[in-house]
Amino acid sequence: MKRITIDAVTRIEGHAKISIQLDDGGQVAGTQLHITQVRGFEKFTEGRPYYEMPSITARICGICPVSHLLASSRACDAIMSVRIPETAALLRELLHCGQFVQSHALSFFHLSSPDLLLGFDSDPAIRNVLGVLQKFPEIARDGIALRKFGQEVISGLAKERIHPSWTVPGGVNAPLQPAVRDKILAGLPEAKTIVRRTLKFFKGVLDQFKEEIENFGNLPTMYAGLVDAAGKLQLYDGGIRFKDAEGRIVADHIPASDYHKYIGEATLANSYLKAPYYMPIGFPEGAYRVGPLGRMNTAKSCGTPLADVEFAEFHQRLGKVVPSSFHFHYARLIEALYGVERMEALLNDSAILGKQIRAHAGVNSLEGVGMIEAPRGILIHHYKVNEEGAITWANLIVATGHNNLAINRSIEQVAKHFVDGKHLQEGMLNRVSAIVRAYDPCFSCSTHASGQVPLHIQLLGPEGVVLDELKS
Ligand code: MG
Ligand code: NI
Repeated sequence: MKRITIDAVTRIEGHAKISIQLDDGGQVAGTQLHITQVRGFEKFTEGRPYYEMPSITARICGICPVSHLLASSRACDAIMSVRIPETAALLRELLHCGQFVQSHALSFFHLSSPDLLLGFDSDPAIRNVLGVLQKFPEIARDGIALRKFGQEVISGLAKERIHPSWTVPGGVNAPLQPAVRDKILAGLPEAKTIVRRTLKFFKGVLDQFKEEIENFGNLPTMYAGLVDAAGKLQLYDGGIRFKDAEGRIVADHIPASDYHKYIGEATLANSYLKAPYYMPIGFPEGAYRVGPLGRMNTAKSCGTPLADVEFAEFHQRLGKVVPSSFHFHYARLIEALYGVERMEALLNDSAILGKQIRAHAGVNSLEGVGMIEAPRGILIHHYKVNEEGAITWANLIVATGHNNLAINRSIEQVAKHFVDGKHLQEGMLNRVSAIVRAYDPCFSCSTHASGQVPLHIQLLGPEGVVLDELKS
């Protein structure tokens, strides 16, 4: 048996290694994704006061601080048993939309557009963001501008871009200044134009990727996403909707406090990252996908005008349920448009400039769960405290975890279809790392490492000799 190992998939965020085993005939026998967890963050937080959790957990990941901050703040709201002021809820959602736009822009333009624009088989020396800048300067500039816009929303609200501590238990700690609102509003038309132009471009090139669409994690799984009472997409609020592989709703409007009745956490061989599953069905049949594709497959609509037109077209083209993980890209662009439109709606709500922004209370409940849709999917923070408010137990389920089994299966599907050990070409291994990029996993969240976690792919021969590797 030969094995290929892709170590440090580099255009992914957060240590992860993929090994691809070849049989004696040079064909792929199997694949494995190894994710090494650095430290037990949950254990580390025991004994800390609950109200410090937002700023502590925002340091779990340098890539997703805003998402942890929001999920943690919501768990603290539950421990205090408060309903936060309306203005605070609007402002938290606005911050969240900024995070969505910047994160989706980074994933699409910076990490994945080199494959889509220059080709999966193009020269790896130029298959990067600089290569895109040279050959497709407008698209590269659009990507930079859109990401910057999202970052400016975050910094406008939270001042610090990296670990904003502006979101606190009970609300937020400073109101929105009218000048900041006006500045964000002024940037919205360009952001909207960029996302629409990118969607048009992406839909125009889809036909070039028939083989990838057919084989990039084209799987029957369940799906999960947060929706409101009417079944529309929710990023900051809402309950969990689970659908089966045929698109039937199997559970709906599950509140954060009940997540543990529906979500079990399985352990995969060779990985410290757990694999959540839909408990009533069991593992592995209850494996589900979250994130942009999970959300587009669970929600009834987005709830903003332009995103809803795109949502309808997405399902018209691809079906009621879209099973190929290649379409995470497509779904991500629709969500970027939703994020921009949702910002506009929030900023035009007269309550957004309100001064009532924080509820104060002590410990009124010894347990609290916070749940949001992070850009990569559902993020859950669950804390238990003692009467003094010290954390006695914590469980975090990160977005990338939910997709763990699907990512593993997708890697195997791509490797078996594209990798030929006898006539190995770089583009084959690049497709293996590209399917991982389609999910936009955060291995930093998953491993609790700080900073970027690279992906390393190794191709291993029958005796375990490394035949080739790719570090991206
Ligand atoms: Mg956990
Ligand atoms: Ni992260």
